[in-house]
Amino acid sequence: MPNFKGLHLYDCKGAFRLTWDERGFAVTEEEGMFLKTLIKWMRPKFCLEIGTYVGISSSWIVEGLQEIGGGIYHGCDIIPLYIEEARKRLGCYSQNFWKLYLGYPEEEKDVIYDFIFIDDSHVEETVKKSYTYAKKHSRSGTLIVFHDILLPDVQKAIYPDVATLLKTTPEKQVGLGLIVV
Ligand SMILES: C[S@@+](CC[C@H](N)C(=O)[O-])C[C@H]1O[C@@H](n2cnc3c(N)ncnc32)[C@H](O)[C@@H]1O
Repeated sequence: MPNFKGLHLYDCKGAFRLTWDERGFAVTEEEGMFLKTLIKWMRPKFCLEIGTYVGISSSWIVEGLQEIGGGIYHGCDIIPLYIEEARKRLGCYSQNFWKLYLGYPEEEKDVIYDFIFIDDSHVEETVKKSYTYAKKHSRSGTLIVFHDILLPDVQKAIYPDVATLLKTTPEKQVGLGLIVV
């Protein structure tokens, strides 16, 4: 695996072209494909997503795991209805590859994740809490991916780990950011 500690921005064309309102809550197809590619490349044993919503990004991640034939995805959200929708959506994949939780998966407290995707409320305090939870369940080399990394609140939550705040404009606030712990 290449040693690429630090922050990397993935300039998703689709994501950068659309505003937040147009794009809605979920990752774009291009971002999803990127997540799946990361999964297939990393071959993580344990994956966590904070902010599963109705299971769109989850589907990309779980599909990647199923294609490599290993690993498990833990997804969580705070809205029960979203969890139920995600459960339906993930129903087409083997249950060996995924589990869903309401709130952080506290019952998995001893699990150390290899891959974490944070895409929750995008409010500084929430992202900070999720980032702290993610780091607590990481090892050296865990890949943490943030959605909408350029949103000021997301940036503030991960600062000073990232050291410099990135320039944003109203049109350019989404995209994926990768941090290797
Ligand atoms: C932008 S959506 C996630 C979209 C999803 N990742 C996708 O691409 O399909 C954000 C989600 O985070 C959830 N959320 C907000 N705060 C949360 C928290 N503290 N823990 C887990 N999920 C949270 C919201 O309920 C919402 O469903």
